Amino acid sequence: MNIRKYVEADFGGIEQVIKEIISTYVWPEIYPDGWAEERIKTEINVEGYTDAIFLVIEEKGRITGFIVAHDLETFIDKELSHLKTEFISQKLISDEKEKEHKETFYQRQIIITPEFHEGKRGTKLVEEIKKHARGKGYTQLVTRTPTRNEVGATFFKSLNYKEIFSENNPSRRYFKMNLI
Ligand SMILES: CC(C)(COP(=O)(O)OP(=O)(O)OC[C@H]1O[C@@H](n2cnc3c(N)ncnc32)[C@H](O)[C@@H]1OP(=O)(O)O)[C@@H](O)C(=O)NCCC(=O)NCCS
Repeated sequence: MNIRKYVEADFGGIEQVIKEIISTYVWPEIYPDGWAEERIKTEINVEGYTDAIFLVIEEKGRITGFIVAHDLETFIDKELSHLKTEFISQKLISDEKEKEHKETFYQRQIIITPEFHEGKRGTKLVEEIKKHARGKGYTQLVTRTPTRNEVGATFFKSLNYKEIFSENNPSRRYFKMNLI
């Protein structure tokens, strides 16, 4: 098993991982129309996100999982501005203009091909982004999952993520872990 940085030639492999997961568990209920190519491109786009990391697992020439993560604040600015006050009150970001240090890293996507579930691949990918985030000076990690995704929530809790709040727009549960 090789964990390495995503390159453009991996896009077909990523599409295949998503195609295989989208018909399992809760996903047909959450994304009844699946993810078309454009949606996948948006979901994995890391351009313009500070300190982004996009890793894939490659096994015998096949992509069997991936993870995308970056700074939380760029994500809030681009997509979650309605939650800025909540993140400030949770002390995940501060509202100072000049910050003395990096604050919170955001784990955006993690998907493993169903055939390879429960083989610790997900855990290994999260360990990699924790190392990356610590190396960049971040002190906390945040993630979220659709409210009805019990497998996702159980997985996060197994990694020592603690649930912090939920919201309905869209319906998501948020989790955090300390990196120090
Ligand atoms: C969530 C996901 C990434 C986990 O990846 P994985 O490689 O199968 O997980 P791991 O083998 O590292 O599991 C670590 C722990 O998570 C929990 N866990 C993982 N899958 C589980 C399942 N299907 N049911 C219950 N608990 C599960 C267990 O506590 C497990 O520890 P254990 O092996 O000691 O029992 C994978 O199920 C997946 O791709 N799901 C679809 C996408 C998704 O839900 N992403 C995350 C939230 S959006």
